[in-house]
Amino acid sequence: MKTFPENFLWGGAVSANQCEGAYNEDGKGLSVQDVLPHGLRGERTEGPTADNLKLEAIDFYHNYKEDIRLFAEMGFKVFRTSIAWSRIFPEGDEETPNEKGLEFYDRLFDECLKYGIEPLVTISHYETPLGLAEKYDGWRSRKLIGFFERYCRTVFTRYKDKVKYWLTFNEINSLLHAPFMSGGIKTPAEQLTEQDLYQAMHHELVASAMAVKLGHELMPSAKIGCMILGITVYPLTPDPDDMIATMEKDRETLLFADIHARGTYPKYLLNYFEDHKIEICMEPEDGEILKNTVDFISFSYYSSVCATTHTELGEPTGGNLSRGYKNPYLKATAWGWQIDPKGLRYTLNRLYDRYQLPLFIVENGIGAEDQLVTLENGEKTVLDDYRIDYLRQHLIQVREAIRDGVEIMGYTSWGCIDLVSASTAEMRKRYGYIYVDRGDDGTGSLRRYRKKSFWWYRDIIESNGVNL
Ligand code: BG6
Repeated sequence: MKTFPENFLWGGAVSANQCEGAYNEDGKGLSVQDVLPHGLRGERTEGPTADNLKLEAIDFYHNYKEDIRLFAEMGFKVFRTSIAWSRIFPEGDEETPNEKGLEFYDRLFDECLKYGIEPLVTISHYETPLGLAEKYDGWRSRKLIGFFERYCRTVFTRYKDKVKYWLTFNEINSLLHAPFMSGGIKTPAEQLTEQDLYQAMHHELVASAMAVKLGHELMPSAKIGCMILGITVYPLTPDPDDMIATMEKDRETLLFADIHARGTYPKYLLNYFEDHKIEICMEPEDGEILKNTVDFISFSYYSSVCATTHTELGEPTGGNLSRGYKNPYLKATAWGWQIDPKGLRYTLNRLYDRYQLPLFIVENGIGAEDQLVTLENGEKTVLDDYRIDYLRQHLIQVREAIRDGVEIMGYTSWGCIDLVSASTAEMRKRYGYIYVDRGDDGTGSLRRYRKKSFWWYRDIIESNGVNL
């Protein structure tokens, strides 16, 4: 019976801004995260403030050797992280890169390769240099395409012999929901029109396709993918109007994958622009650049939502960015994210049917409060059976999708080591196989402890999924 392929890339994922810390070391400039102490829905601050946990995060910048050793102990084949753009170009618009920043990622990637772990690198993960936000209003400005191109050229040239797998923008569709965190757009969200947001989206899409083009030129054997927040939508009722509402909500996500995979704007989006009097300013070369389509599609998957026209029947869901209505058949996490393993199988099939491109699940996991306990032998751990159960249920559905015929490159669960959450900027919302001793008040030894899920995941990787 068909199961995980031999070369399946098992691993874990983090982002620079949520784990590295060292926010002002070795020439790093500020990023938008350094002024967002309370996450997605909190106010930004003028500069870094002591209550911002990301400034130190889990100090991966100094602990990366120990952490990668632990990933290797679990048997990781791949490790997804991002490059902090402002370590390389501190303000974003410099002409020459910061050598010390480049050296850090040399050391980091070398450390991965030492254990046979392939780095999977996100070029931009919610950490636009603050300078680009302040001076240009982030991705609203077309100038960012040029700055991004320089940044890509720099990192592709530098790491072409170390990194084979690249992702352009993390959850690129989040730009429409979180313009400052996702796109460095300083103008308050309530003052932005749809026109502004779709124009910024166009700039990012051109930049993403440009990165694919450049990457293929500079690194012919590299695989470059897009990354979509893969929110899955069901109709709340069988009313045909709910099916249409589902289709429309689905397209808010799919349009990004459509453009990345097909190299052109879909007709339904162009019609939407026309109906809403949105006029995207495009340069003559943009059409050609967009034709540089991705090698694979990656996405994050945490939950699903429902869409309905019967709003009186629906109860709004929790979630990070894109929200909908609760599904009465599903349970939710303590943060209100609905748990839907079968939705992952459905999503994999839906994306593969639509694009026939390899897929990579680059985020999945449960954010939960963990309790550090001491075992009889004196060892400290977390008995996180709830995490094992969540991941196991999802991986069973990945296996089902493989049996359905979907081509899946790999799976990197989110926050393989505890880190600061993106939407709420907390430490207590933990995802890791490795517990990090740090609390929401910023105190803690930063010591690392293997959770029960650490041993479970090691066994799953070792058996290539047979022991699920
Ligand atoms: C994704 C992001 O939206 O979800 C990650 O790419 C984020 O950066 C993850 O951490 C989980 O969300 P949260 O808010 O629980 O950290």
